[in-house]
Amino acid sequence: MDVETVLCHRMIGYFGFDAKRIHHALKVVGFARAIAGGEDLPADLLQVLVAAAFLHDIGIHEAERKYGSTAGKLQEKEGPAVARTLLDGLDLPDGFVERVCFLVGHHHTYAAIDGPDFQILVESDFLVNVLEEDMDAAEIQAVGRKVFRTATGIGLLGRIHGYNPSMAVSADEADG
Ligand SMILES: [Fe+2]
Repeated sequence: MDVETVLCHRMIGYFGFDAKRIHHALKVVGFARAIAGGEDLPADLLQVLVAAAFLHDIGIHEAERKYGSTAGKLQEKEGPAVARTLLDGLDLPDGFVERVCFLVGHHHTYAAIDGPDFQILVESDFLVNVLEEDMDAAEIQAVGRKVFRTATGIGLLGRIHGYNPSMAVSADEADG
């Protein structure tokens, strides 16, 4: 079995009967691949990105268990240790585990975005969350403007959710 398939099944095994989280992760992987392909992301970064997409929210159960909260910061805090156990025993390139754990540990910290793998992970997560969290048009405009940077991600947010990058900044957004 290839590394991605192993990680996919380990993630599913770890989340157990939490179908919502499993579906979320698989959707984020799908968008990550679509954006990465559109942006011609190199193969080594694509492998990191896909692994991080499978595991990005893996800290959520520990956050709930320890703190009774699914807050983004707590998921970031608990995620890397769980991710490390799920990445164990695989034949991975140098630095792979560290980079995936960094992405898992910072995926809600948009100021920390430091490369295309990170950027695409964040855009993919938002493309899924726009639907799962039922964001309205103003929220979509704000997220698009603040977070989306790749041409492929911006295009997907526009075609799927009506984001218009040339629309004027709303009063709410300007105040915020
Ligand atoms: Fe997510």
